[in-house]
Amino acid sequence: MPLYEAVDGSREHLAEWLDWVDGYELGRAEHFISGANERASRGEMLELALEVGGAIAGSCGFVDVVPAHREAEIGYWLGLPFVGRGLMTRTVAALAEYAFESLEMHRVAIAVYGGNTSSRAIPERLGFRQEGVFTAARWYRDRWHDRVWYGMLAEDWRSLRLHRSG
Ligand SMILES: CC(C)(COP(=O)(O)OP(=O)(O)OC[C@H]1O[C@@H](n2cnc3c(N)ncnc32)[C@H](O)[C@@H]1OP(=O)(O)O)[C@@H](O)C(=O)NCCC(=O)NCCS
Repeated sequence: MPLYEAVDGSREHLAEWLDWVDGYELGRAEHFISGANERASRGEMLELALEVGGAIAGSCGFVDVVPAHREAEIGYWLGLPFVGRGLMTRTVAALAEYAFESLEMHRVAIAVYGGNTSSRAIPERLGFRQEGVFTAARWYRDRWHDRVWYGMLAEDWRSLRLHRSG
């Protein structure tokens, strides 16, 4: 199954920051897809595969959507062969655009472990504001990690877009 193969082929790289990767097996991938489809049909999440040359390069989506507050949280990962090309920065930009302009979200958030510099670089490149740090909020791989929260509001996204287009 393509999703399983993409994760399986980059286990070490992904497991450095994603706690669901250790012990990942085919049944978990299938269970995840059916659960994600169910939550997507209720508008609570949207998980998309990123396909490059017929292979799954990674995944990006709204891991949580709170319609009442028009807020969506974005999560993402890329298989090791696909890092370093700007693929995820462009994908997150497209998802933010979709969230604000099609889904009429008011706020998009991204939460990243403090030490995950390549992940933090994505919201920073796109002009998200670092809004706060939850100190030592997650225990993973024998140590505590800060959780850094980034946020973008619809009006700020639009004015950044005007700057980008000159
Ligand atoms: C987080 C993760 C997706 C970042 O991957 P990435 O390849 O660094 O991100 P991008 O696809 O946006 O690429 C950015 C890199 O491509 C380069 N790049 C090349 N062309 C680019 C372009 N047009 N636009 C932006 N960056 C470009 C950037 O300089 C950067 O490289 P650098 O880190 O050497 O400076 C990846 O490391 C990953 O999946 N990690 C494991 C899982 C994980 O941590 N997920 C996030 C949990 S919060």
